[in-house]
Amino acid sequence: MSNVTFTATLAVLPSGVANVIHTYADNIIENSTFNMSLQHVESQVAPHNEQSRRQTRLLEIVGKALPPFPHTVLELTAILSGPSADVKKAAKLIRTDATLSAQLLRMCSSPLFGLRSRVVSISQAATLLGADRLRTLVLTTSMVDLAGNGLPPGESTRFWRHSFLAALLSEHLGKRTGYSESEQAYIAGLLHDIGQVPQWMILSEEKANKTSPPPENWFDNPSVERDYFGLDHCQLGGQMATSWNFMPSFIDVLVNHHNSERAEHDPYLARIVGGVEHFLLTMAPDNAEEGAAIEPLNEAQTAEINARASSEQRSSHSYSDSDWQDIHHDLEIEYERLLPIVAGGLTSLVSQPA
Ligand SMILES: [Fe+2]
Ligand SMILES: [Fe+2]
Repeated sequence: MSNVTFTATLAVLPSGVANVIHTYADNIIENSTFNMSLQHVESQVAPHNEQSRRQTRLLEIVGKALPPFPHTVLELTAILSGPSADVKKAAKLIRTDATLSAQLLRMCSSPLFGLRSRVVSISQAATLLGADRLRTLVLTTSMVDLAGNGLPPGESTRFWRHSFLAALLSEHLGKRTGYSESEQAYIAGLLHDIGQVPQWMILSEEKANKTSPPPENWFDNPSVERDYFGLDHCQLGGQMATSWNFMPSFIDVLVNHHNSERAEHDPYLARIVGGVEHFLLTMAPDNAEEGAAIEPLNEAQTAEINARASSEQRSSHSYSDSDWQDIHHDLEIEYERLLPIVAGGLTSLVSQPA
């Protein structure tokens, strides 16, 4: 499908998960708006040799090294959207892609998607799931594939555990608070930290060079990330989503999920994902055990960065205190229920630590 045709197709779609993606060019690297925004970010970063070098490398990775969003997936989201969504046509298209078919069937058998029947064919999956769920599954599969290639093997499990918990809790919170686009909440939750992938790619590159590693718990900690990398995962996620031509409301979530009150395009969605992020960071602070190959900073560097980090909130939510008490309690119950499901589901989906 040509870009012109596909853009026209998307233009008539109703709001929904498919509208997360709005494609108007094959290669966003050629897009002057994107290049201008990269320069804008670059100009905001304080000069510092190592930090500046990492920042430059991050921009290179986001601008040139990341793969484009697969066209088959874009086409599938169009086929599976709106009142004329066609699961049979989608199944036919999926079957032409052997890798996607295999990944989808693997995903279908994961407890993460809670299908009671054993799924043995794409046609059966399409019938069982229906258009909305099949579209989410296609996007999830392609994202796990796209992002997974950049994560060190030892980090995949932790990253996806956090991401799938965020997806499922965002979907749950969306339903609980009357947000009509629960599938969109799921995808936004799944991808909220996608900007960490280029940071992990840099750490893998630097591992052999004996350069100063970041402090423990740098990930999902924007102020520490900015000190070390020159860019945090929110800025990077925003750039990646821009390069994949995601809708502005979705980019807004990736950029502002640690400060959801700053979101402009879909504050409701940003508030849901921001609330879930805040919950997860306070509920289960991750540690660096799965990245243990990285040596710690020296004492002075750690103290300086931690001092700066502790003066800022790691994340926030924009619910009132009384609402948040109820939401937190509800999320706790759902979290306990989901934890073993996610842990079980991940064993078949992502590469395990060596
Ligand atoms: Fe985050
Ligand atoms: Fe997160």
